Amino acid sequence: MSGKAKAGKSKYVSRQPDENGCIAYSPAENEVWRDLITRQIPMLPDRACKPWIDALDEMNFPINRIPQLKDVSAVLMDHTGWSVAGVSALIPFTEFFQLLANKHFPVATFIRTREDFDYIQEPDVFHEVFGHTPPLTDHRFAAFVEAYGKAGLAADPKDHAMLARLFWFTVEFGLVNTDEGIRAYGSGIMSSPGELVYAVESDKPERKPFDPVDVLRTPYRIDILQPVYFVIDSFDQLFELAQSDLLGYIKEARKLGMHEPMYEVT
Ligand SMILES: [Fe+2]
Repeated sequence: MSGKAKAGKSKYVSRQPDENGCIAYSPAENEVWRDLITRQIPMLPDRACKPWIDALDEMNFPINRIPQLKDVSAVLMDHTGWSVAGVSALIPFTEFFQLLANKHFPVATFIRTREDFDYIQEPDVFHEVFGHTPPLTDHRFAAFVEAYGKAGLAADPKDHAMLARLFWFTVEFGLVNTDEGIRAYGSGIMSSPGELVYAVESDKPERKPFDPVDVLRTPYRIDILQPVYFVIDSFDQLFELAQSDLLGYIKEARKLGMHEPMYEVT
């Protein structure tokens, strides 16, 4: 999951790189990465969409150690001119939007402990790098994330929380229609074996056709399996969204009002 762009407290602290831009992870930390990635990769066929799986091949992540950010950036730079930027676990909206608008994807650099192996609320380096970076090699997806950052910078701060829903239901928890059936592309799904099976195969969640105004009207909770997902037709739809008036959609959503939450409000 990701609590990105939300202020809050975490027991985790992001790791600082040395003067060569490298982070010296311990053998135990590298083993957590190894065990997470070797559990997740076999889950992907028939659940992740093909562009995402192809993009994972392009990333060519090491299995036995946590990738270094400069190596991740080098691949992204080659494809779409993006890079990753190490940040603390949770960053303010303005910093988040600023980074995206400049084609830098913020990445928390700590990795979860064994205790949190199956579930962590904060975004760790496995979620950030494995979950988020592969589709940033696709120019359509990358254009959407950049446009999203620019819209965030232009938006009234009172609209930031609403704009966060657009990121949540696409970049974090997006599904896509394919000839073979529904597939996933969102990072929160890709970095969680449980949610990957649930999002694609379970008959419990509602899966709605993607509509930007509908998305902006839909509240979410970060700490549960999602009760609703939005399904795009392909990354082309995100590319079209990147050219559209995102702030206009916010105005329309405000006018129509919010949907009732589909979960228990705590
Ligand atoms: Fe995330």
